[in-house]
Parts: sequence; structure tokens; C-alpha cells
Amino acid sequence: MALLDPHSFADAAQPGTRHFRLALGVDFEARRLKGHVTLELDRAAHGQLDLDTRDLQIERIEDLQGQALPFELGPIDPVRGQRLRIETRSDAVKIHYATGPGASALQWLDPAQTAGKEAPFVYTQCQAIHARSVLPCQDTPRVRATYHAELDIPAPLTAVMAAAHRGAQATGPGRTTYRFEMPQAIPSYLFALAVGDLKKRDLGPRSALYAEPKTIEAAAWEFGEVDRILRTAEGLFGPYPWERFDLLLMPPSFPYGGMENPRLTFLTPSLIAGDRSLVNVVGHELAHSWTGNLVTNASMNDFWLNEGFTVYAERRILEALEGEASAALHASLGRSGLDKDLARLSKADPKLTRLRNRLDGVDPDEVYSQVPYEKGYLFLVAMERVVGRPRFDRFIGDYIRTFAFRSITTEDFLGFLATALPEVKGKVDLDLWIDGVGLPADAPVQASEKLEHVQALAAMMRDGRRPDQAALAELDSTEWQVFLTLLGQRLPIPDCAWLDSELNLSKRSNLEIRVAFLALAAGSGWAPCFEAVEATLNSIGRMKYLRPLYTALLSAGPEGRAVAERAARTAGPGYHPVARGLVEALIAKGAS
Ligand code: BES
Ligand code: ZN
Repeated sequence: MALLDPHSFADAAQPGTRHFRLALGVDFEARRLKGHVTLELDRAAHGQLDLDTRDLQIERIEDLQGQALPFELGPIDPVRGQRLRIETRSDAVKIHYATGPGASALQWLDPAQTAGKEAPFVYTQCQAIHARSVLPCQDTPRVRATYHAELDIPAPLTAVMAAAHRGAQATGPGRTTYRFEMPQAIPSYLFALAVGDLKKRDLGPRSALYAEPKTIEAAAWEFGEVDRILRTAEGLFGPYPWERFDLLLMPPSFPYGGMENPRLTFLTPSLIAGDRSLVNVVGHELAHSWTGNLVTNASMNDFWLNEGFTVYAERRILEALEGEASAALHASLGRSGLDKDLARLSKADPKLTRLRNRLDGVDPDEVYSQVPYEKGYLFLVAMERVVGRPRFDRFIGDYIRTFAFRSITTEDFLGFLATALPEVKGKVDLDLWIDGVGLPADAPVQASEKLEHVQALAAMMRDGRRPDQAALAELDSTEWQVFLTLLGQRLPIPDCAWLDSELNLSKRSNLEIRVAFLALAAGSGWAPCFEAVEATLNSIGRMKYLRPLYTALLSAGPEGRAVAERAARTAGPGYHPVARGLVEALIAKGAS
């Protein structure tokens, strides 16, 4: 028995799934998906087929002739879930099942948790290893399959999937069946669906936005440039390979900024700043269409191949759209985030500061950090600087073409690098970047005039001298983020009060700015901001914001801790399960 991936029970010696047919009923009352999936294998099984499941109720399994197949669910593994072992020599299995009440990929929302407050909402978030809680499958990015899906839902609602929509049909009293087809083979973590009160608005020839009626107007404006972003990305990385690039605006509790589900990127509503200043997240998820969804990491050990390449691609898109200065500002934000995580992980578990990991027995959600993103990005920039932009561009293009629709390890990447870009060896310390802890001393540093200007303003403030109000008022959204980030973790209380009264930072609709300020102000112990912190924690479930805000409150004495605990009690039940886990861990850690 050879396992393919430390996070999956799938066995390399067994056949792989190449296509599946899924039929599920969506039951909002019972908070359950129920139906069946038929897995078509690339060859006949040799007696056993091992699948991943988590929290699934398996009713019956049969072959295509309807013959029942014996099966056994293994013991519960805290990280991987339960192995489902089917006894079969068939090349297809049909599994009748239902999801469990705590399915980790699903968030079921009451109407009160949506923008419109009238209809319920359900969505999946399968990355990293949650697809197995929605359907029994070989839940490893090593296995890719096409699929066909039917979702039977309550009639007034709309179903969407990260797939091509193939029509809808009334099927019974108050029920509609939606059909979808995914013609491109995907790894399981890119399986995605959502059901809610959704409207559709075209944004361009290849893009539409899905959102609740209440938010569609604002979102359509915020993402109005999506087609220009798409064309810019194609100019850099080649023709867009997934036909459609649609967007789904998620409810506020969506735990990420965005998720690159193919054909249908999921986006947090916190991107609606009113000034299009946070669309780099759209660029990031779009970039995954090449780096991640086409060339995929073989397991979470090589996650940097997905995210490091994508941050690099995101900043290239940004540079092409807005210029070098904007890309440099974003790189500076990335570097601040990386430094924070390096400091945290160097104490907690230095191994996790490596690009290549060994995550056997480790829950990927628990070790999520900026390391694969920003250290991966800097590694690619270091190589680009050695060989020059034109040569590196050709390399990236060759890399994407060579590995498209494949799942690769860091070893595969290094092998390709050795032949495609041999001059890098000896000039960039590959071993140190890939397997070393922390950041190499000669890691690339970004510079630009704008960045230097903002750095100077922040340095002044840190030295206790308040910059000219006019100089601050001139900063654009990204410059504000950089300025606040560079102020560090603490500021004298009168400075917090001054910044807020002059510039209204605690009430900004741009959440990057508001959260950067509130985390700084709360961490500095400026109690008047606690109310705004609590209101923010009650209104948004994006982990990027929850972590710094809870951390700041918990560092701010008994009063701050009390606010954190109250917010966790009131808002916690509305957070996504993964976000809830994060908040509970932060509170427990602070208490010990
Ligand atoms: N694929 C990730 C989100 C993710 C990672 C979900 C791991 C589950 C497990 C997505 O592409 C992402 O990185 N989102 C970022 C966007 C940012 C880097 C621009 C986010 O959510 O903040
Ligand atoms: Zn990403």
C-alpha cells in the first residue's frame, strides 16, 4: 500500500477517479445534502477501492448492475477523517449517502446571516481537505476528474457551481433541479457549490457576477473591471483555459478573501470598499487559473507551488494594470505579513517557515500562514532578478505549458528548473530557499519612490512626530494600508486618538484600512476603539481580519479580553467552522 498524499487515504496502487456523476438534494431544514455519486475509475479495481470521507452517512454502495458492494468505514482519524474501503473489481461504484450535521466543507446560513435576511444560504469551501465531507472521493490533488452534477433545491433559490450551467427544471412542488457539467478535469479541492437568493449580472463577454439582490449593484461596480483584468492576465500567461471567469459574492462569514473555484471564483463581500482598491484579490484568484488550477501542488506539502506562484502572478497582473509602484506597495504589505508570521512561527514551530513541508498528521488549516505565499513569491523574484525578466517570462510560460492539468511536487519543480533555467543554480541558494527555515538574508527587497515616501511618513510617526495632516490625507487606499502596517504593533495612545479623529480610520468602509488601524489601536490599549472592533468582529468572518483583531484585544488587558470573549460568544456561532476553530485557539492560547 502506497499512500499518495499525507492527507488522503487514496492508494497509489488503486485506480483513480476520472469522472463522477453526482445527484444531491439540498435540505435546508435538516442541513443536509443527500443523494448519490457514481465514481467512474480509469480501470477496474483489483479488489479494493479506498476513498476519503468525513462525517458522511453511507447508506448503500453498488456497482453499475445494481449489485450491492461490501464496504467498511475505518476508525476516525482526527486530520484525515474516515477511510471508506469498498470491496470491488468493478470500474465504477455508485454510493448512496448523506452529509453529516457538522460537514466541515459546508456552511449553512440562516436568513439572518445573509445580506437580504430573507432566504437561507449554503456553500462549500473544500480547500484544503474538506471535499470528503461533501462527497466520498479520492480527496487528493493528485487525482483529477471531470464531473456531471444535479442539485435539487427549494424553488425560489438559485444553485451555482464551479462548473458549466446546463439548465434547470421544475421537479416537484416547490423544487427545482439544476444541472451542471465540468468538462475540465479538476482536483477535488476545486469542487464547489452554493445555493441562495442569487441574481446574475453580466460584467463582460466571459464574466458574470452572482450576488444577493441587495449587494449586486455595489459588487457589480466594484468588480466592473474584471474583463480588463482577465485580458491583462492572458497577455502575461496565455489564453484563459476555463472558458468563463464568473464571480460569486459570498456572505460575510466566508472565511477567506477569495477562493479560486474554477469558472466561478468565490469572493468575500469585504472587498466592496467603494473604490475598487481591493481588486488585487480578484487578480490573485484569476491568476490561480494558471498557477494552481492548471499546475497544481501534489499535496499540501508543496502548497507554495500554488500560492507562491500565484502571488507572483498576481503582482505581475497588478504591475501591468496599475504600474510598478502599486506592485511594490503590495509587495511591501506582503513582506510585513510574512515578517509577522515568521516571528510567530519561529517561536511556535520553526519547521513551518520552510517552503517544502512534511505535514503528516498535521491539519493544513491549523498551519495556514503567509510563508507559502510571500516566501514563495520572494523566491521567484530572486530567480527572476538573476536571469532577467524576459528569460523568466519564458520560463513561467514553459512551466505552465509543461505541467498543465498535472499535479507536481517541489522535486518536480526543481527538476524542471535544472533543465529550463540552469543558470539559476549557484546564483540562488535553492536548498536554503526550499528547505531552510526563515528567510535568506539576501531575499529581494522592493523599492519605489512612493513606497519610500510612505516609509518615511511611518518612520516619522514611530519616532513620535506626527506627519502633516495634508500629507496623510493625500495617501491612496493602498498607501494607507502600507502606512498603518509599517507603524508596527503599538503606538502611544494619544497618537491612536489623533489618527482616528483626523482621519476617521475606525469607521472606514475599506476593511483593510479599518482593520489595520483597529488592530494597532486595540493592541496599543486604546479602549475607545473596542466598540468598533467588536462591531467589526460581529459583521465579518474573514480570518485575515479575525486573527489580528482578536490577537490585539487579547493583548490589551482584562477589558480587551472581555470584549474578545463576548465577540466570540455572540459572533462565533455565525463564523465558518474553520474560522471558529481559529478564534477558539486564539482565546485558549491567550488564557494559558
Ligand atoms: N486558495 C486560497 C484560499 C485558501 C487557501 C483556502 C488554503 C483554503 C485553504 C486563495 O487563493 C487565497 O489565497 N486567498 C487569499 C487572497 C490573497 C492572497 C490576495 C485570501 O483569502 O486572503
Ligand atoms: Zn491563493
